[in-house]
Amino acid sequence: MADIAMSNILTSLEDSSFSCSCAKEMINGGIDGHLNDCSVRNLKSSLNDDTANVKAPKKDPLPKDEEDFLKAVFQVILEDGVRKGRDITQKVVDFHQPDELRTLLDLEIRDTPEDHQALIKHMKDTVKYSVRTSHPRFFNQLFSGQNTYALAGQWLTETLNTSQYTFEVAPVFTIMENVVLHKMRDIVGYSGGDGIFCPGGSISNLYALNVARYRYMPDIKKTGLFGLPRLVVFTSKQSHYSIKKAASVLGIGTNNVVLVDCDERGKMIASDLEAQILRVKAEGAVPFFVNCTSGTTVLGAYDPLDEVADICEKHGLWMHVDAAWGGGVMMSPKYRASRMRGVERSDSITWNPHKMMGAGQQCSAFLLKHENLLQHCHEAKAKYLFQQDKFYDVSYDTGDKSIQCGRKVDVFKLWLMWKAKGNQGWHEDMDAVFDKTRYLVEKVKAREGFKMVLDEPECSNVCFWYIPPSLRGKEDEADYKDKLHQVAPKIKERMVLSGTMLVGYQPLGNKPNFFRQVFSSPSVTEEDLDFLLDEIERLGEDL
Ligand SMILES: Cc1ncc(COP(=O)(O)O)c(C=O)c1O
Repeated sequence: MADIAMSNILTSLEDSSFSCSCAKEMINGGIDGHLNDCSVRNLKSSLNDDTANVKAPKKDPLPKDEEDFLKAVFQVILEDGVRKGRDITQKVVDFHQPDELRTLLDLEIRDTPEDHQALIKHMKDTVKYSVRTSHPRFFNQLFSGQNTYALAGQWLTETLNTSQYTFEVAPVFTIMENVVLHKMRDIVGYSGGDGIFCPGGSISNLYALNVARYRYMPDIKKTGLFGLPRLVVFTSKQSHYSIKKAASVLGIGTNNVVLVDCDERGKMIASDLEAQILRVKAEGAVPFFVNCTSGTTVLGAYDPLDEVADICEKHGLWMHVDAAWGGGVMMSPKYRASRMRGVERSDSITWNPHKMMGAGQQCSAFLLKHENLLQHCHEAKAKYLFQQDKFYDVSYDTGDKSIQCGRKVDVFKLWLMWKAKGNQGWHEDMDAVFDKTRYLVEKVKAREGFKMVLDEPECSNVCFWYIPPSLRGKEDEADYKDKLHQVAPKIKERMVLSGTMLVGYQPLGNKPNFFRQVFSSPSVTEEDLDFLLDEIERLGEDL
């Protein structure tokens, strides 16, 4: 029997790339005496080695044809996605109306499989008809550009395809998230506290409302909304619509979101905030939450955080800062103090590195000053996932802080990018973004037919009207505003159809449609900005 066992071990040794020395000792010195030592050494050795203690498979885990496919895909990504995506000689968009696009793409799912060649063609078509948001002349959204390291990070996290919820399945990413969130809180000025990466700024804002309400009314988690007083939220008239959405989702109700007046620059008027709080209290309702915006979506205004903090402290309200867009200035010693003084006094903040910091969709951090609140507010203690008797420090299983179960890894791209830049790189990027903003502001001011909406924008939003020759000097005519209102949409239509660039437009209050040029990519050049103005003029001078 012993001989048979021994020869089995020898055979398995020949097949295995692992545990040879232990097995030889077992053969030479007897099995029993060495079993414990060997298994400990095997365990240690397995910690230092990529290979698992199993027989080498007969088949390559990556079949040749799949490897070739992936290499071909990588070429498509590199050439069509990355290189052409950054090339100003390429169109930003090859636009087709939805019905036409349906005919240009082979979208039908069939019973039979398609070969690699067909799949590569589908990938190329997908790139061809998609908007190149990495293009230097894509100015349409609060995200743009393409950072090589963030992109590399995204590729790696997609490949590893894990969920951020436990150390067990995401050991590197859970501690990395911990480190990066800590760093971000330090930058905000919170000592201690907590945080989580969320799928976007809207969801981060929803987290803020939820934890704030839980802090004041912890019973709500069990008893629900039944029997609660009327809770009221305050936010400025120019804040992002996600606050209203969150209030609706959480059962607070959009009628209970009070919109505070803004000054002509789009900043919340602190005295109006206090007046509204007093009014609501007099009505017998319960104010509990104030949302400030650091970088409003359209004008890029920064609310006066210190003044709002005084009011929140006085009335015992949660102060949240929605810095989804403008939070990037915290990376610049030069611009932070003048825009976000007092942010450290807030209870929580939404900060989207995927916007002004260019980390790639999606990357949004919700940070708060308070410890344990996220966990207590959201935990459901699922026994199949968050077992408390695991053999490692289960405080790294952060998934129960989240309203999701599975959660994408959003931290890695930011971490890699940060490693590649260092803090210094961010300072330079932010300064570059603000330098370009200044360049464009001066150009708009100096150019005939262009007019700034705000003379001095605080963020990198440059809002302006293009006034075609037919409307110049007619500001006093009754239909001037109506006519001007139609200019930007018409230019935008022509712009999309020619595909040369993309820039957004919108009305605001009683202001007719105007263009909003936003910078989040430091790689935009002065030449790109000259092109922007020339192109608007080219597309609109006959209107
Ligand atoms: C000020 C502000 N807050 C929140 C959001 C929502 O962020 P997200 O698009 O990541 O949900 C935006 C989006 O533009 C925003 O401008």
